[in-house]
Amino acid sequence: MRFLQTLATSLLLSGSAICVTANGAPAHKISPKIFIVSMFEPEAAAWWNIPDFNVRAHNITVPGLSPIYPDVYCTEDYAICQLITGESEINAAITVNAVAFSPQFNLTQTYFFIAGIAGVNPKRATTGSVIFSRYAVQVALQYEIDSRELPKNYSTDYIPLGSDFPNKYPTNIYGTEVFEVNADLRTMAAKFALKANLSDSATAKAYRAHYATRDGEYNAATLSPGVVECDVATSDVYYSGNLLGSTFDNTTKLLTNGTGKYCASAQEDNATLEALLRSSARNLTDFSRIIIMRTASDFDRPYPGSSAAYNLFEADQGAFEPAIKNIYKAGIRVVQGILHGWKDTFAKGVKPHNYVGDIFGTLGGHPDFGPGRKQALEESSALKKRNANSRLGRRR
Ligand SMILES: *[C@@H]1O[C@H](CO)[C@@H](O)[C@H](O)[C@H]1NC(C)=O
Ligand SMILES: *[C@@H]1O[C@H](CO)[C@@H](O)[C@H](O)[C@H]1NC(C)=O
Ligand SMILES: *[C@@H]1O[C@H](CO)[C@@H](O)[C@H](O)[C@H]1NC(C)=O
Ligand SMILES: *[C@@H]1O[C@H](CO)[C@@H](O)[C@H](O)[C@H]1NC(C)=O
Ligand SMILES: *[C@@H]1O[C@H](CO)[C@@H](O)[C@H](O)[C@H]1NC(C)=O
Ligand SMILES: *[C@@H]1O[C@H](CO)[C@@H](O)[C@H](O)[C@H]1NC(C)=O
Ligand SMILES: *[C@@H]1O[C@H](CO)[C@@H](O)[C@H](O)[C@H]1NC(C)=O
Ligand SMILES: *[C@@H]1O[C@H](CO)[C@@H](O)[C@H](O)[C@H]1NC(C)=O
Repeated sequence: MRFLQTLATSLLLSGSAICVTANGAPAHKISPKIFIVSMFEPEAAAWWNIPDFNVRAHNITVPGLSPIYPDVYCTEDYAICQLITGESEINAAITVNAVAFSPQFNLTQTYFFIAGIAGVNPKRATTGSVIFSRYAVQVALQYEIDSRELPKNYSTDYIPLGSDFPNKYPTNIYGTEVFEVNADLRTMAAKFALKANLSDSATAKAYRAHYATRDGEYNAATLSPGVVECDVATSDVYYSGNLLGSTFDNTTKLLTNGTGKYCASAQEDNATLEALLRSSARNLTDFSRIIIMRTASDFDRPYPGSSAAYNLFEADQGAFEPAIKNIYKAGIRVVQGILHGWKDTFAKGVKPHNYVGDIFGTLGGHPDFGPGRKQALEESSALKKRNANSRLGRRR
């Protein structure tokens, strides 16, 4: 979730989810065609009370889910299910892991459809837009020195792990830095979403106009909401500002070897993907059946002449409501596209032409980012975890 002000409301609303029945599961394993992954109540509620289907026909309690979102929901025929991770990386990783390894499900053919809101980079897209990603990058998995104590020649507070200067390739690998999903499936999903008539608001329209500059640096921000293919950053820290925006844009480029385009910022996707990677490594899920869709609720940095704090705390950007609505408006097209094309296309799967998986090559194949499997594995474990000096000592 990327909308501070709604946190309190969402916690209040979700109280009702605690007292549901525990007994929603059928005797056989549930094998949904689509699993909608929501991160908090407003994103989840975008799919409730819609004319197309009732995703809350069954409530199924799954051990290991969040205390405030303990149930998975499914339609009457179990073709579509929904989980709510809870916000940020820890919640996302543990919830998705619990579902992916639950004996209540058979998820080998299931499409995981991550559908949430996000911050947006005004250089690449605007609020209200629907963003489909190929890479998810854990941008804040770095060293950090407060800018007030930073060496003079450092351009940013963030320094890649195992390195000693901003924007140097990390030499200490955790394995969750980057995930790459099926680019062919992404393009199909984006095509489905193009059929949607996206929501917007008068406030959002007026706010976007602030990003018009003579050099057109933020031209993308001034356009109407659209469907865009670019990438998502994951960070527990909810950041705002030009310098952090630029830092994480650079991190995305660095970690994807120049292919990734930082577009959206959210707090969960890498964690969700790591859980799905581990279950895919056990053939419980299929890593080539993941769609990452984020609708833009607010800008990650201020318009020219305004401040990072204003952007985060004060600006009424008017895009939270449209972003929530567009989860449904674009998302329903994706769901319908998959269901209608199930027999001919989606049951057997969409073969990716790009590498899919993590930096280690855990699922096979050769990552098109990172230093290669062998070196990544070496750099993941050969060093003492908390001793930065010895890690720096190994710098090439
Ligand atoms: C499932 O839980 C929701 C509240 O979280 C409730 O509105 C709905 O009626 C429940 N459905 C069933 C079938 O119990
Ligand atoms: C899961 O579903 C697939 C596809 O329908 C089937 O081939 C497989 O046997 C099922 N696995 C289990 C454990 O039920
Ligand atoms: C940054 O400045 C320090 C001295 O303060 C110098 O030792 C170091 O080489 C500089 N690094 C780069 C990459 O310019
Ligand atoms: C997050 O996911 C992206 C894309 O899938 C991946 O590139 C990045 O390494 C992941 N980061 C973390 C910390 O898991
Ligand atoms: C799109 O939605 C707007 C209201 O949100 C409506 O005024 C307009 O007629 C719709 N356009 C189409 C083509 O459905
Ligand atoms: C990001 O990279 C660009 C190009 O190398 C550089 O000019 C800019 O200072 C970097 N941003 C930060 C915050 O370090
Ligand atoms: C998963 O499936 C692949 C391909 O069928 C097979 O080679 C591999 O051994 C399986 N892995 C596990 C953990 O079952
Ligand atoms: C990615 O970039 C790093 C650092 O420049 C390099 O070591 C690595 O070989 C590159 N990987 C690929 C797959 O091109």
